Amino acid sequence: MREGQKLQISATMKLLRMLDQLKQNNRAWAEGKLAADPGFFQRLVAQQQPEYLWIGCSDSRVPANEIVGLAPGELFVHRNVANLAPPQDANYLSVLQFAIDVLKVKHVLVVGHYGCGGVAAAMDGRRRGLVDHWLHPIREVAHDHKAELATFADERERLNRLCELNVIRQVKNVATDVFVEEAWARGQPLSVHGWVYSLSTGLITDLGVTVAGPASPR
Ligand code: CO
Repeated sequence: MREGQKLQISATMKLLRMLDQLKQNNRAWAEGKLAADPGFFQRLVAQQQPEYLWIGCSDSRVPANEIVGLAPGELFVHRNVANLAPPQDANYLSVLQFAIDVLKVKHVLVVGHYGCGGVAAAMDGRRRGLVDHWLHPIREVAHDHKAELATFADERERLNRLCELNVIRQVKNVATDVFVEEAWARGQPLSVHGWVYSLSTGLITDLGVTVAGPASPR
């Protein structure tokens, strides 16, 4: 066997061992859940009854359930780069419709985070391919708030404000969606919230842009 082949095999073994660790973690997790509550998985098989839909960033540092202390079955989750809710995105729309029409969630949480790489990438002018197209709505938000954003001398602070403005825009997108408007029209309780998570403190800030009915911003 050539030296190169040997190296390749050993690298592959190393990669597979990483996955072994995940499988071990999974077995320990399932056993722990059962030890604490023998009926845990059986109940979840029967049905899920989440009261919240989380629309958040794909960022690995923003694990939805963990941040808000919710167990499996309690949070319906949609994540994408920079927590967007684009009115033409079939993936997001399908999640939203299922959450509202079938699961009847009571709250939609749009959760951005400071230091978002997606928001920064939208603004740095570098070409990355497909993701530039995905991030286009953020450049629109930045354009609409050009004057305010220009008042920030510090780039990080400016981008953090853009993270907030992006969340506010996505809340607006969700609240003006036809599935949401129909839910309100039939009297279904539903509100849409805009939150931002801080990577450095682990804390969520409510941006105070909750919409709880047609044209009822609070
Ligand atoms: Co992000």
